[in-house]
Amino acid sequence: MKNIILIGFMGVGKGSVAREVIKSSDYLAVDTDDLIESMENRTIKKIFADEGEGYFRELERKVSLWLEESLKNTLISTGGGFHKQKNLKEIGVIVFLDSPFEKIIKRIKNHPNASKKLKKRPLLNDLKKAKELYDQRLPEYKALADIIIDVTDKSAAQCAKELLLKVKQYA
Ligand code: S3P
Repeated sequence: MKNIILIGFMGVGKGSVAREVIKSSDYLAVDTDDLIESMENRTIKKIFADEGEGYFRELERKVSLWLEESLKNTLISTGGGFHKQKNLKEIGVIVFLDSPFEKIIKRIKNHPNASKKLKKRPLLNDLKKAKELYDQRLPEYKALADIIIDVTDKSAAQCAKELLLKVKQYA
């Protein structure tokens, strides 16, 4: 099995889809933000506040090299800016989770832990800037993707099922 790398904007549901995929497949899962937080023993929010975004991006670069060298049979969920790493294609099959900005924000706001979800993401503090980031990244995500899944108004389980079907052709 090739690695699967999930890309997409903050809050689109990469983690939720990853958890559903591992329930119904033999994939193991890792998350790039979780790796970074454990490497640093501090939250992403704190890393941004203490060191700035550049430092965080350098950690993402290190992680991307490690993923390429070390992982097999793994579903990798990523932070929303991880697609900027140069070796994404070498890591695995790239799956973009797609949804309009307004739907993503609605999804976060409807979550029982909405304020925590917003606060832990420094780049979502200002929604106007976040929309600009979304508009800038959307074509980048699309250009990189081997597979695009429209996740709008679908459950994570539905998306996982669709992902596993579509990924079969890359086995
Ligand atoms: C970021 C997305 C976040 C996290 C960091 C930066 C981004 O991950 O990596 O706050 O640049 O879009 P999620 O996409 O899991 O929120």
